[in-house]
Amino acid sequence: MIVAIDGPAGSGKSTVAKLAAERLGFAYLDTGAMYRAVAWRALELGIALDDEPALTAIATNEPISFGYLKGEPLPSEVYINDIDVTREIRTPATDLAVSPVSAVLGVREALVAQQQRIGMLQDTVMEGRDIGTAVFPGAELKVFLTARPEVRAERRLCQNAERFGKEASSMDREAILADIIRRDTYDSSREHSPLVAADDALVLDTSDMSISEVVDWIVNHAAA
Ligand code: DC
Repeated sequence: MIVAIDGPAGSGKSTVAKLAAERLGFAYLDTGAMYRAVAWRALELGIALDDEPALTAIATNEPISFGYLKGEPLPSEVYINDIDVTREIRTPATDLAVSPVSAVLGVREALVAQQQRIGMLQDTVMEGRDIGTAVFPGAELKVFLTARPEVRAERRLCQNAERFGKEASSMDREAILADIIRRDTYDSSREHSPLVAADDALVLDTSDMSISEVVDWIVNHAAA
C-alpha cells in the first residue's frame, strides 16, 4: 500500500508522514530530500541552476541513499554519491536552489523512476509534492496537507531552531514567510508536475490541528 502525502512547505508533511509510517509499520520516503540532494550537489559542483543537462546527469548518475541513525526506526540520513548531506540539504542555500532544480523535467523523470522503484518494494508512506498526481497516481490513500502561510512559517522557524540552534538559524520570521510564499508560487506554477492536489486526494487544513490529530486522521483513513 502507498500512502501519498503531498502539500506545500511547512504543511507538517514530514513530521506527520514519519509518525504515520511508524504507527502503520510502513517504510517512509522523503522525496523532497532527493531533490534537495541533487540541488546541493549542483551547488557543490558549481553547476548553473539552469543547466538542465548537467542537473539531469546528477539526478540520473549519482546514487541517492538513506541511512538510519542508531536505534531509529525510520531513515533520516541522506547521502548522494556516498557523501553524507543530511545537514547540508537543509541550509538556506539549498532552500533557494531546490525549486529551480526540481522544475527540470530530466531531474524529475530520474527521481520519480527511483521513487517508484522504492515504493514497489514495500508498504510506504511517501511524502512530496507530486506523489498522488505523478509518482503513484494509483496510491490507495492520497492526502494533501495545507496550512495558512503564517502557520507554516512559524513551524519552519521552530524546525530550523531545532536543527541548527537558535543563533544558527539566520533567517527571521519575515524572511521565512517570504521564502515559503516564493516557493509555493514557484512550485505551483512550474510546467512539470506542479504542486496541486490530485482530484481524488483528501485535503486537510492542519492550521488548527495538533500533530497527533493529523497522524490519527491519516492512520484511521489508511486502516479504513
Ligand atoms: O519537501 P521539501 O521542502 O523538502 O522539498 C524541497 C523542494 O523539492 C520543494 O521546493 C519542491 C521540491 N519537491 C518536488 O518538486 N517534488 C517532490 N515530490 C518533493 C519535493
